[in-house]
Amino acid sequence: MATYSYAECLQNSYRVNWKIGDVVDGRRFDASRPWLPARLSGAGAIASLSSQEKTKLTHVEMGAYAHLFGYVEEFIAPKMVALARDFEIVHREAFDALANFAAEEVKHMTLFREIRGRVDEAVGFPLALLSGQQDVARAVLSKETGAVLLLTAAIEWFTQLHYLSSFKDNEALDPFTRHIFKCHWLEESQHARMDHLETLRAFAGITDEDRQAAIEDLIGLVGAVDGLLQQQAGFDVDNFERYLDRSLSAPVRQEVYARVLDAKRYTFIESGVTHPNFQELFGAVTTPAQQQQVQKALGGILQPAA
Ligand SMILES: [Fe+2]
Ligand SMILES: [Fe+2]
Repeated sequence: MATYSYAECLQNSYRVNWKIGDVVDGRRFDASRPWLPARLSGAGAIASLSSQEKTKLTHVEMGAYAHLFGYVEEFIAPKMVALARDFEIVHREAFDALANFAAEEVKHMTLFREIRGRVDEAVGFPLALLSGQQDVARAVLSKETGAVLLLTAAIEWFTQLHYLSSFKDNEALDPFTRHIFKCHWLEESQHARMDHLETLRAFAGITDEDRQAAIEDLIGLVGAVDGLLQQQAGFDVDNFERYLDRSLSAPVRQEVYARVLDAKRYTFIESGVTHPNFQELFGAVTTPAQQQQVQKALGGILQPAA
């Protein structure tokens, strides 16, 4: 089992810490290049689009990708504040590391709002993006802590995978986009480790009933994430038509929707729950029967969209 420490996370965080200006100042999106790597986009799987149209689809999808991080950070930041309070006065290292984690998420939300404005400027109109993040955050925060932390761990581990395997060495991608997700990756690296520590703490000494309740909440949360992805995939199709300045035929609209949704499900659910570090953590806090229960629920979600 991996071992991490709050003190080391805090030290690493101070070492890589950036300001919003370091991410955005003097940089612009290049509309001639893709903004999202092929693995995280539905564009490559849509035969009826020209290569220029595929590139444009990645612009719309990247706007949604960046927005969705800000969206989930809306519940991650207050959760970390609440967890930090468990350590106040008595455990300096954990308190400082978790309070700093929350502050970084607040900064990330501000960054992604800034990015949203710049994406809108580059595509020439305000992208339609999921709203209601305060209500979603309230609903998520009402769930079992173990469930919220497992969802958060999956998200923060996939930020690591996405950057390292799809952005880092991808010379064809827009350099500004690569820079944004490099900066996010640098700070998320500590978050994922602290999610691991906090998830183990949440499940330590838990009753069987509470563990089961957390797993049921987790299944509910993953279903809710999928509902949001379906809604955003619909917005992406609308944004894409507006960006192209033409209407797509009904079959092409349906195809774009289905492939964009497949890519979002891989990006926001599958790549997190199959990450080896998440798997290790999940295996440590659940019974084999609970693992099967989650597997079955995921099987219902991760089918290719029709
Ligand atoms: Fe973040
Ligand atoms: Fe984070």
